Amino acid sequence: MTLTASEIALLRCPDAGDGAPCGGSLVDAGDALVCGRCLTRWPVRDGLARVYREERVRGNDRLLRVFYDNLAALHDPAVRWLIPVLQTEGSERAMREAYLRRMELGALRPRADRGLRVLEVGAGTGANLAFVRAQLPPGLDVAYWSVDLSESMTRRLDARVARDPSIVPGDGRVRRLLCDGHALPFADGTFDRVFSTGGVGGYRDPARALAELARVAVRGTPIVVVDEQLDPARSHSLYHRAMFRAVTFYDRAPMSPRALLPAGAEVVADEQASRFFYSLTFRMPA
Ligand SMILES: C[S@@+](CC[C@H](N)C(=O)[O-])C[C@H]1O[C@@H](n2cnc3c(N)ncnc32)[C@H](O)[C@@H]1O
Repeated sequence: MTLTASEIALLRCPDAGDGAPCGGSLVDAGDALVCGRCLTRWPVRDGLARVYREERVRGNDRLLRVFYDNLAALHDPAVRWLIPVLQTEGSERAMREAYLRRMELGALRPRADRGLRVLEVGAGTGANLAFVRAQLPPGLDVAYWSVDLSESMTRRLDARVARDPSIVPGDGRVRRLLCDGHALPFADGTFDRVFSTGGVGGYRDPARALAELARVAVRGTPIVVVDEQLDPARSHSLYHRAMFRAVTFYDRAPMSPRALLPAGAEVVADEQASRFFYSLTFRMPA
């Protein structure tokens, strides 16, 4: 198990078996994390805890997990080279730097009561790591948590970090878990920054996933969600429309999920990060 005891203490049982959050604390039992309340065993294999129920992974979630598990090697080249060609503009770097600025990472300061924590949901191969680190105040100690439903994508994140631990904010260690963005295994208000890029539009229930991002974030903190939307403020050629359709095959009308935000959410910015991608920043009232 690669999480420490104090990190495991942050976890909460996401599902007692009936689909509702259990909320019990988890205990390290070597080959599993065990819920002290409902006694569910969440398996740990090869150092990676799987804190989700397989039977809940259905619809788009199942389809996209097959996709990411089998084509993980193509993800990074596609984002770096193919997407700029398809949308005939931008670069991976420019887009990541722009949406991450909405996280106001530079405003983070050490807390008196506990260490700082950043959570990326659907973190994939860890392509945001170096960009997050670059925007944090130098030397700030931050624990980076990364969750995803795809083991292949997470193993690629491990390989990226093994190649260059200096890309990781804080102590060079990513706390990672396999879990479902619809049922995050954390208590309310656990994280000082929360974000998700490139995944939410493909979830089977984006409203629930947005509510989960909001729930685990400290109140008042910016929460950033990025995914596909053909810029509604611009005109697009047949080529752009066809390419957008091709990359969003799993969704009939991909768009910013502003209307699906949890009740009370304050929209900070609903903007385009590039021709094919929106960037939605919101906060829950403090
Ligand atoms: C397009 S990739 C983006 C990866 C990374 N955020 C980036 O910007 O490069 C989307 C990621 O979301 C993950 N994902 C999809 N559905 C998920 C779910 N229900 N819960 C958690 N992660 C999910 C996929 O496995 C994949 O790694």
